[in-house]
Amino acid sequence: FQKEIISLTSILNELLVITAATEVNDGYLRFMLTIRQFNYTVQVLGLGEEWKGGDVARTVGGGQKVRWLKKELEKHKDKQNTVIMFVDSYDVILASGPEELLKKFSRFSHRVVFSAEGFCWPDQRLASKYPVVHHGKRYLNSGGLIGYAPEIHAIVKKWKYKDDDDDQLFYTRIYLDKEQRRKFNITLDHKSHIFQNLNGAIEEVVLKFEKSRVRARNVAYDTLPVVIHGNGPTKVNTSILLHSFALLQLRPHVTYRHSHQTFALLLITRLATLIYPHTRIRLFIHNNVHRPIVIFKNNRYQYRLFACLCADMQNRYVEACKKDVSCDYFFSIDSDVALTNPDVLRILIEENKAVIAPMLSRHGKLWSNFWGALSPEGFYSRSEDYIDIVQSKRVGLWNVPYITQVYLIRGETLRSRLAPVSLYQQEGMDPDMIFCKSVREQGVFMFVSNRDEFGRLISSTNYNISRLHPDMWQIFDNPVDWREKYIHEDYSKIFEDDENFVEQPCPDVYWFPAFSERMCDELVETMEDFGGWSGGKNKDERLSGGYENVPTVDIHMNQIQYEKEWLKFLKDYIVPVTEKLYPGYYPKAQAVMNFVVRYRPDEQPSLRPHHDSSTFTVNIALNRKNIDYEVNKLSISPRKGWSFMHPGRLTHYHEGLPVTRGTRYIMVSFVDP
Ligand SMILES: *[C@@H]1O[C@H](CO)[C@@H](O)[C@H](O)[C@H]1NC(C)=O
Ligand SMILES: *[C@@H]1O[C@H](CO)[C@@H](O)[C@H](O)[C@H]1NC(C)=O
Ligand SMILES: *[C@@H]1O[C@H](CO)[C@@H](O)[C@H](O)[C@H]1NC(C)=O
Ligand SMILES: *[C@@H]1O[C@H](CO)[C@@H](O)[C@H](O)[C@H]1NC(C)=O
Repeated sequence: FQKEIISLTSILNELLVITAATEVNDGYLRFMLTIRQFNYTVQVLGLGEEWKGGDVARTVGGGQKVRWLKKELEKHKDKQNTVIMFVDSYDVILASGPEELLKKFSRFSHRVVFSAEGFCWPDQRLASKYPVVHHGKRYLNSGGLIGYAPEIHAIVKKWKYKDDDDDQLFYTRIYLDKEQRRKFNITLDHKSHIFQNLNGAIEEVVLKFEKSRVRARNVAYDTLPVVIHGNGPTKVNTSILLHSFALLQLRPHVTYRHSHQTFALLLITRLATLIYPHTRIRLFIHNNVHRPIVIFKNNRYQYRLFACLCADMQNRYVEACKKDVSCDYFFSIDSDVALTNPDVLRILIEENKAVIAPMLSRHGKLWSNFWGALSPEGFYSRSEDYIDIVQSKRVGLWNVPYITQVYLIRGETLRSRLAPVSLYQQEGMDPDMIFCKSVREQGVFMFVSNRDEFGRLISSTNYNISRLHPDMWQIFDNPVDWREKYIHEDYSKIFEDDENFVEQPCPDVYWFPAFSERMCDELVETMEDFGGWSGGKNKDERLSGGYENVPTVDIHMNQIQYEKEWLKFLKDYIVPVTEKLYPGYYPKAQAVMNFVVRYRPDEQPSLRPHHDSSTFTVNIALNRKNIDYEVNKLSISPRKGWSFMHPGRLTHYHEGLPVTRGTRYIMVSFVDP
């Protein structure tokens, strides 16, 4: 019976949603999207008018809204069956439709219901005057109210204050007056049946994922609120809190920032291969090592884009885009970013957002380039769905409070909404934080997309820029990029079906691709740069171990602090080959003798015949015969980057033939001695 009365009420009643907004911004558009989604009838007050209600995000105010409402309700004051809901717009979304709203309103059995929160604002001295609430939020919040038109009208008719006086204080006084509370039949929505104010209540709210939609659930009171309010007009840390829920998304992490150059150059190469017509890109590259490089060509293409790989120098370059009306987009990338999707720019542009980032994370890790939520102080905070988004278990375009490392900003937005603020410069703050804070405060939404795979973040914590080729050491931190750069492009063919791919020049000696050209070159350059070549017969016996019978001019991996990395290479790349080629043998991949050997006509041109003290030996040619050096009588021509692998000890007696011109470099490793 009760149920029927309730549904009857909701049919008989008409519902009108009234909101206030002076300008159309992202928050307003988001609100209107949900209005339309549920077919609410809405009346917007104040569009195009000047806001005189004060800076409600920082202080009291908001009275202007009551003045507008008072005027508007003159039209509805006699409509006994009209239910009016007044809500803010910039920081509000609706989570369900009119029918559910009216049912829930009926269950209150009151004529007027205000939203509630846990803070007594703006006058805390009034706190004790509130009726005691044992379970639920005690204090009135004016960001949301619902009631019958005549009562709402009677309440707002009492407004006779200034536009920047406080609306919440006004309603609070009426509510706290017992007489008026009874007369207007007012109650508060203590348990968020209808209104969920997020201020101070973020912990109570979780996202409930249904098949086709997401709904916020208040787990403290087990309710499904209809109106989600990111608390603008409660005046307490408002924009931060709104964005901390920003459409109820995601998750956090700690920011890190580094500048280095080498993977960065790989990135530039990648950028240049992006399908986006790079003749329309103006690219700024700046980091600690490189001076800014500007690549700029103009042509007939539709968009012009300024791309900035600029570490902490974004400010300089964003200004360039701001000032140039022909700059359609500003694209900022850190050197920690590896984009692999050649369509990234087209995809981001087509999302048609003012500020958007492709979602990237570190290979197999939860580090990403966005945060799902902010703490009240504006730092990283956990969001429930962060992990699912990073792992692409939930896919979409997400409104988030913080993005970093790579993003695209619409030039027009830079010249309009973002024009008044300095996006990166502020004393004592990280440019990332300033950037996101400024964008949030201008009411511009930031998005991150994980609808496509875009690439990944590179780890740079152990990046040692005093090394000549620091990337070589990244086999642990950035294994994917390391492989791409340093492993031979045909390496994976070793494991494919073609039995003839791995060559066998003599019994049990195999020949297969291992290093890329880059690896060969960088290893040789590193050794030459290090320069501690041990000289032939005088070399340190400790280093030469079981090899002292046949001294060579060499540098060992441990001398350049590369032993750990080398063993990792053996384990990840040589062991699998061994297991395929010597079935039944499972290498331990231990090796203490790992060195680059150098042969020169005037130094040590050759090596006399010998056995190796290893179970098997890996010899990788680091340069090219007949180009970099000449050797007579060599029956097979070593190929740069290819490895010979042969059993050591007694079976394979071998020698190094004399180099007659140039310098020959070979990487040698005695595995499992
Ligand atoms: C809203 O109205 C449209 C057209 O009248 C209808 O197709 C749609 O199903 C309605 N949506 C809801 C959520 O009621
Ligand atoms: C509010 O009005 C309803 C009837 O509409 C009544 O049952 C209820 O007692 C009233 N509440 C107060 C606090 O006056
Ligand atoms: C609002 O922010 C300020 C500074 O960030 C902080 O000191 C204050 O405690 C915050 N207030 C609330 C209610 O979170
Ligand atoms: C960084 O590289 C330099 C030069 O190779 C080396 O001397 C130093 O020990 C390295 N630092 C670390 C922390 O590995």
